[in-house]
Parts: sequence; C-alpha cells; structure tokens
Amino acid sequence: MKERVAVFDTTLRDGEQAAGTRLGSRDKLTVARQLARLNVDVIEAGYPASSPEDFEAVQLVAREIHGPAICALSRAVASDIEACGKALAKAKRPRIHTGIGVSDIHVMGKFQDAKYGNSLAAKKAKLLKMAADAVKLARGFAGDVEFYAEDAGRADPEYLFEMLATAIEAGATVVNIPDTTGYTVPEQFGALIRSIRENVKNTGRATISVHCHNDLGLAVANTLAGVSNGARQVEGTINGIGERAGNAALEEVVMAIATRTDYFKVKTSIDTREFHRTSRLVADMLGMPVPANKAVVGSNAFSHSSGIHVDGFLKDRETYEIMRPEDVGVTESRVILTARTGRHGLRDRLEKLGFKLSKEELDVTYQRFLQVADKKQEVFDEDLAAIVLDEIHPVAETYHLEYLHAYSGTSAIPTATVRMKIGDQVKEGAAVGDGPVDAVCRAISTVTGTTAKLARYEIRAVTSGTEAMGEVTVQLEKDGRRVMGRGASTDVIEASAKAFVDGLNKLAGL
Ligand code: KIV
Ligand code: ZN
Repeated sequence: MKERVAVFDTTLRDGEQAAGTRLGSRDKLTVARQLARLNVDVIEAGYPASSPEDFEAVQLVAREIHGPAICALSRAVASDIEACGKALAKAKRPRIHTGIGVSDIHVMGKFQDAKYGNSLAAKKAKLLKMAADAVKLARGFAGDVEFYAEDAGRADPEYLFEMLATAIEAGATVVNIPDTTGYTVPEQFGALIRSIRENVKNTGRATISVHCHNDLGLAVANTLAGVSNGARQVEGTINGIGERAGNAALEEVVMAIATRTDYFKVKTSIDTREFHRTSRLVADMLGMPVPANKAVVGSNAFSHSSGIHVDGFLKDRETYEIMRPEDVGVTESRVILTARTGRHGLRDRLEKLGFKLSKEELDVTYQRFLQVADKKQEVFDEDLAAIVLDEIHPVAETYHLEYLHAYSGTSAIPTATVRMKIGDQVKEGAAVGDGPVDAVCRAISTVTGTTAKLARYEIRAVTSGTEAMGEVTVQLEKDGRRVMGRGASTDVIEASAKAFVDGLNKLAGL
C-alpha cells in the first residue's frame, strides 16, 4: 500500500497575492469549485484579516464548498486568528493556518520593536510563546490547525526544531516548512525535512507539509525532495503562480508523483484529468497566461514538431511521451460548441468549466455566445471562459462603453471616438494616440476624466485562427492602488477598450 500525500492548494491566497489583482468572492468561489473537482485535500481560500473583501470570500467558500478542508491564513496574532475563526464558522472542515518567522533575518527584521525583546535570544523566546498562544487560540476555533515556520529554509535548525516542537505541543496538527524565499536546493531541503523527523520528538503527532517558492526555479524539485524525505502534505498553486517567481506548480508536483510512482512510492487523491481545465480557469481569472512550454499544462506540452519525434510518436507514442494528454484533461477541453448548441448544452458545458450561473446570467452569456458563434463558427472552452469572465461581473458599472470607433492605417494618425454612459449622462469624446489602442484608452480617459495610468497591457488570442477571441488584460494604477481589467472580443480594439473600462469600474468601486 502506497502512503498518501495530501495536496494543499494556495492559489487563492499565495497565488492571488502575487497576481496584482484581488479576486472578488464570486470569482474565488468559481476557482474553489474547480479545485474541489480537482479533488485537492485543502483549499487555502484567503487571509480574512487582510481586508473585508477577503473575509467575505473565505466565508463564501467555507459555506459553499464541501469536500476539501477550507483553510484561512493568519499571523500569530489574536485578531487575525479570530477573523479566521469567524470566516470559517460555516465550514464543514475548517483549518486555520497560523505561524511566525523563524530565521534570524525574519526574527530581527520583522520583530524590531522592543516589545519583542532586546536581543535575538530574547526575541526568539518571545516568538516561541507567541506561536504556542496562537496555536492554542486557533484550536478553540478549529480542530485542525496548521502551523507555518516562515523562512524555515534559512533558519537555524535548532531553533526551527524547538519552534515546531512547541507548536505541536500546543496542538498543531500539521507543521508547514516553508522555503519562503526559494533559497534552498533539493538535497539540502530534503535533508532538512529528514532532520525534522529525527530531531523533533513529537513530530509523529503532526503531518509535515512543504511549501516551496521558486526564486531559483527549484520549487517543484524541493517539494519532491521533501516528499522523498517524509513530508506528507505538499503545498503549491495552479500554474505555479505566487509571490515573486511563484510557488511550486501543483500540476507538476502531482504529475511527477503519478508518473514516477516507481520512484516516489506515494500517491495523491487528485483527479489529474481536471488539471488542464483548472489551469485555464486560473489563468483567465487572474489574467496570468500560461507559457506555451509550461510543463503539464502549456499548449506545447504534448505537441511534437521535429520530424524524428513525430515519426517516432506516430509509431509508438511512448517513444516521446511519458504522460498521456488525456490524463491531464487535454483532449476533453477540445469539445467544440456551435451556434446550434442550445442553452442547455451551453449551461452544461459552463458547469463543467466551473461556472455556475443564475438564469439571468445564463441569458446574457447565451446571447453573447451566439454572437461569437456567428463570427467564429466554432466556440472552444477557452472562448467560453473569456465570454463569462467578460459578461458576468460583480463589479458595479459606473462607466459603460456604448460606442467605439477607431481609425488607423500605415499613413493615418490613429484616432478613436467613444461614447460612454456615466451614471445618467452620456458623453462623447475623441483622441489621437500612438496606435489605435492608445487612442481608444486616451479617448476613454478624456471622457471619464480619469487620472488612472495604464501600468500593464497584455493581449492574447484565446484560441487559434485569425477569427479567434482576443483577450486583453490591463493593470491600471491610481493613487497607489492597482486593479486588473479584462475584456474579450473577436475585435482586439474593442477587447482593449472593454478591459480599460472594466479596470476603471473596479477603481470606482474601491
Ligand atoms: O511562503 C511562506 O512562508 C508563506 C507562509 C505564510 C506559509 O506563504
Ligand atoms: Zn508562500
């Protein structure tokens, strides 16, 4: 019998933290639903004390998602833990994830105030007490408490052992060993996990979890080294999104365990056929496209191009393929819808993609789907996700784009005219720019009077072909706040305008 390794997904917390955008509660719920389909063991839904929106999102996910444990993050601070307790009150299986820094750099750098002590030793003693108090308080709200020893990868091992023993003694059911800065290398990280098992006497009472960041591109390798040395929970995110260079990509960790089960001799409960769909959903929701060569979920991950490879593959696919595309859900996503697909078929497909829409939302989506199907003949899953994300918005529409006309050419000055509804007023304006997209954004800025700056602009063809849906994501910045806007259309100028207006509406709602 192979031992099981639990999978802890932190896309909605560590992943979202880095995306430069905050997901609303409905968006988080959509992703959480798909994570539940993927059959992860734990969903870290957010950090409730960070904002009322995140509190609400964790609360909604806790109420609606059954199956995986729902986890919320906190510092080792009573108010954070109480916020987790409240947000998770309706969860069937709540978990509180609390912890504190353990490396000397964190202890001295983050706890400078004299209230934590005047020397490194004094501060360390104080932090041990804070950790124990935090775990005990958290246990009052949830029977399942995970303790993280932040920056464990750079910590003095003796202090780390003492901290973990203290947390387990106080009631931690899982101890998380984060390589917060992605500093370690696989042999070293594996040895650290082994040494924890050998030196922390009560370690048998808790599961050891590994949480690796990717600053040196080693997050997945370090995670797997942790598993080889006794970790029985792996943490990561879909597509590896996360702080700085990201977290361990869960699809890579899980497929490595599944493909090399002969080597790792453990298993997970993940339904790997859901990976492709989950990856696309997360990329769309967070506006972070997946590179074509990304392992497991990149669009080239199962393409063969050189003559020798194609020849070998056609004779026997195992010559050049170590995983089957259908095992990660690649083929299933190619189901194509056309204008003849009825409302029922559309709803069915949307539900499979993780979108549960109300009747009104389905009506709007269906109308838009018909328009796209008219233009494109075939509508792919990726198109559908773009349509839903574009049409179904919890964001209040302060600004509405009624009309857009853009003009450009090799010897013309790019010009755009827009008509917008702003509250009860309808306003029109025009502008010239460096290109048609620039002209449109300037025209919208003139009409709305906004001072928001375009900090990032990305465009991608959602599906292939010249008639593909173009999806634009923008990041707007105003008064130190950043939001993401998204727009999709078969016309990229229109998609750009929609993304810009979407961003302005989000800023207006802050
Ligand atoms: O990277 C890290 O240390 C974290 C902790 C909060 C678990 O994300
Ligand atoms: Zn992290």
